[in-house]
Amino acid sequence: MAYNTLIVEIEDHVALIRLNRPDALNALNTELLGELAKALRSAEENEKVRCIILTGSEKAFAAGADIKEMSEKTFVEVFSSDLFGPEVERLLNCRKPIIAAVSGYALGGGCEIAMMCDFIIASETAKFGQPEINLGVVAGIGGTQRLTRFVGKSKAMDMHLTGRFMDAEEAERSGLVSRVVPTKKLMEEAMGAAQKIAEKSVLTSMAVKEAVNRSYETTLREGLLFERRLFHAMFATEDQTEGMGAFLEKREPQFRDK
Ligand code: CAA
Repeated sequence: MAYNTLIVEIEDHVALIRLNRPDALNALNTELLGELAKALRSAEENEKVRCIILTGSEKAFAAGADIKEMSEKTFVEVFSSDLFGPEVERLLNCRKPIIAAVSGYALGGGCEIAMMCDFIIASETAKFGQPEINLGVVAGIGGTQRLTRFVGKSKAMDMHLTGRFMDAEEAERSGLVSRVVPTKKLMEEAMGAAQKIAEKSVLTSMAVKEAVNRSYETTLREGLLFERRLFHAMFATEDQTEGMGAFLEKREPQFRDK
């Protein structure tokens, strides 16, 4: 499928989705968000795809929602269309693992989209921020909620109230990103992680996502029960027999997503 605002490649069971609006630092406009939803759906439906990488350019993952497109909108328009509600639903609902590979600016909606991925690998030049306050608005794609859960209230308040950017080193120290690598190594690192994930059973990857994400939605006791029941459920799969059998036979497992 051809896209105007994305470049999509599939290589070794990994779908690489690159945001591609270089003139606007990958600002998230309606077209890009629509195409992103389509690309994610198509990656999810493609049996060959076992992991997804979402990335941007070296200069910008995404500099936020498209300010030019938003600036003329009225309350009635944004409220009645539920702006940024339905548009990001596909990212939230994607059951296959998604890695955000972030270089340069990940601001506003860009930071929020990165946080909606399963984990973030950042280049040394990555800059995260929620500068919406400079535009007279608050974050609208989860920044006040997700950033607070990642980095805690004090840093989240600091970022949202001052609009300052966080560099990659601070982002790693604060738990926002899982690894920081030199810019030139970013895609190699992300691809390596994606290929590791692609070797596993897709069923197990989906269960991991459900269990970890549940930890944000429920109490510890309920979350522990949910996890244990998922663990029990995995014993109904052939991949559990294969995984444990391969360990005992001292060989690599061959998962078949069954
Ligand atoms: N929307 C639309 N266009 C954007 C954009 C955005 N969010 N960010 C950058 N651009 C455009 C610029 O307008 C510029 O276009 P022109 O050449 O046509 O003028 C081009 O991208 C390059 O940008 P700059 O010249 O500004 O590049 P820079 O290197 O000097 O600065 C920057 C980079 C610091 C990221 C700066 O562009 C910037 O501050 N961008 C806005 C960041 C922002 O406020 N993001 C939050 C958006 S609101 C939001 O996301 C709400 C939400 O939670 C849903």
